[in-house]
Amino acid sequence: MHILSVVGARPQFVKLAPVHRELSPYHQHQILHTGQHYDYEMSQAFFEDLGIPDPDVNLEIGSGLHGAMTGRMLTGIEERLMVDRPDMVLVYGDTNSTLAAALAAAKLHIPIAHVEAGLRSYNRNMPEEINRVLTDHVSDLLFCPSQHSSDILSGEGVREGVHVTGDVMVQALLELEPRLGKERLQRFDVSRGEYVLVTAHRQENVDDPIRLRGIVDALSSLDGTVVFPVHPRTRAMLERIGMLDRLEGRADVRLVKPLDFITFTALERYARVVLTDSGGVQKEAYTFQVPCVTMRNETEWTETVDEGWNVLVGTDTDAIVAAVSNASPGRTEARSYGGLDVTGIMRRIIESRLG
Ligand code: UD1
Repeated sequence: MHILSVVGARPQFVKLAPVHRELSPYHQHQILHTGQHYDYEMSQAFFEDLGIPDPDVNLEIGSGLHGAMTGRMLTGIEERLMVDRPDMVLVYGDTNSTLAAALAAAKLHIPIAHVEAGLRSYNRNMPEEINRVLTDHVSDLLFCPSQHSSDILSGEGVREGVHVTGDVMVQALLELEPRLGKERLQRFDVSRGEYVLVTAHRQENVDDPIRLRGIVDALSSLDGTVVFPVHPRTRAMLERIGMLDRLEGRADVRLVKPLDFITFTALERYARVVLTDSGGVQKEAYTFQVPCVTMRNETEWTETVDEGWNVLVGTDTDAIVAAVSNASPGRTEARSYGGLDVTGIMRRIIESRLG
């Protein structure tokens, strides 16, 4: 069968890696990169580290306003789909690339499988929430990371083609674990269990100067060392509001460029606490059983909170500082998102669907 995966942004490359490994021995699996992420460390570095072949097509769409970006992707993907006519299109997660691919395929009546279906934050200010809801409602196969996400779809009337497969990002992490040795910490001059790893890139946090200031003030007050790989969106805004120098001036805050996935996940694995506004990073911390503090008011990954590994604090400075200093482990038997055969389950479902 001919299956086309459409990806564009960092977390999608991670999800693509085990899927490609699973599908390519059995099927013609092609990769279309929209070009949403294009910096070397945001894109190509992931392909190299994760052993994914170069994309068959790169639309090189780049950045822009949501409508313009999604529109350019829609046009480019539609053109390719009309030429290639795959039997199925695989879309991942909740980015603009996900939505564009799902819309293009739906209009051409090409079956769509959505990897990471049924997640909801119920916050429509997040562009990702719109992308998820719309993608789920045009997909033919919905691969849910947990029973909870499947129940959410059922509540919205989406019941056909829904399968609880586990989470492909968790599989990717478990496969990488042997490569995540402690020596990866050396270049940051930190040791296991004694630093806070920080990420912040959510549009609703970093594009709002008040929320971003709340985060920066918290980082300046945390005990111990902070390692903070800075997303380009965040760096641009920190510069604009004059706060980059303030963070760079502190010896205990290590600001670094976006990291390759292996270095980053090694930092997650050995951190005392992970402080983030990312969805994927919450779940990665949970997988490594590292306490997480999330700078948002809601999460799609509710199991991480229910099982005691994650707390939601928004962007209030005092709340962040208190939660980081009080962070403690949750239930050690927690394993809500599946294991090492997530992609095998997906492949068999795809095969039985396409017959
Ligand atoms: C996107 C996804 C988000 C995902 C994140 C992972 C959407 C709506 N958002 O957010 O769900 O969690 O990717 O990182 O699709 N930029 C660069 N170089 C790059 C890419 C981006 O400099 O390679 C800068 C540009 O200034 C761009 C900004 O970052 O305008 C934001 O990029 P964009 O792709 O719009 O969204 P992300 O914040 O990365």
